[in-house]
Amino acid sequence: MSKILIAPSILSADFSRLGEEVRAVDEAGADWIHLDVMDGHYVPNITFGPEIIKSIRKYTNKCFDTHLMISPVDSFLEAFAAAGADRITVHAEATTHLDRTLQAINALGKKAGVALNPATPESVIEYVLDRLDLVLVMTVNPGFGGQKFIHSQIDKIRRIRKIIGDRPITIEVDGGVTPETAPLVIEAGATALVAGSAVFGRPPYDKAIAAIRG
Ligand code: DX5
Ligand code: ZN
Repeated sequence: MSKILIAPSILSADFSRLGEEVRAVDEAGADWIHLDVMDGHYVPNITFGPEIIKSIRKYTNKCFDTHLMISPVDSFLEAFAAAGADRITVHAEATTHLDRTLQAINALGKKAGVALNPATPESVIEYVLDRLDLVLVMTVNPGFGGQKFIHSQIDKIRRIRKIIGDRPITIEVDGGVTPETAPLVIEAGATALVAGSAVFGRPPYDKAIAAIRG
């Protein structure tokens, strides 16, 4: 079985000490750092953009797993790549031309991901598989940390696992991941788990990360 990767979401960190928080989860065993970018238009919340990402880049060498909840998205890809994003994930629902958007991310030399909201069927990935490094299955509606895990998505994870076959594409799960829900999504085929409140809201961070990894 593949190693389970944990990506703490800094959405639940102390924003006044963001750099230190990033360093702390890095030292506590985080595999990736999950960055939730929200625009108040595609999702009903606003967080941060490329300048903040650039400013925290020096606090860790770990992968910046960048989750863009913005629309339009294409015109901002270059800025996020330049700011230090390693993986760039866009919402299938937020771009009109998903294939073009994924090509643009690949052309910037970054790993491309597609995020699917709870109501979005997995079939949207079928014709873009060759451009994908990651599929992000949302197990809450995007916009806020600390929401309740939506169980219907477990079946979707299983179906995505089948569609992917033996391609080197990671299934990542985002929303309501806790030590209790993590085994359910791992069993269904997820290998990367985002956790905001279950890490930053449950210090010490090393124990919180270990509890989710199981
Ligand atoms: C929600 C974000 C998540 C959020 C998860 O729109 O994409 O990454 O931080 O928070 P928890 O883990 O608290 O559900
Ligand atoms: Zn996220």
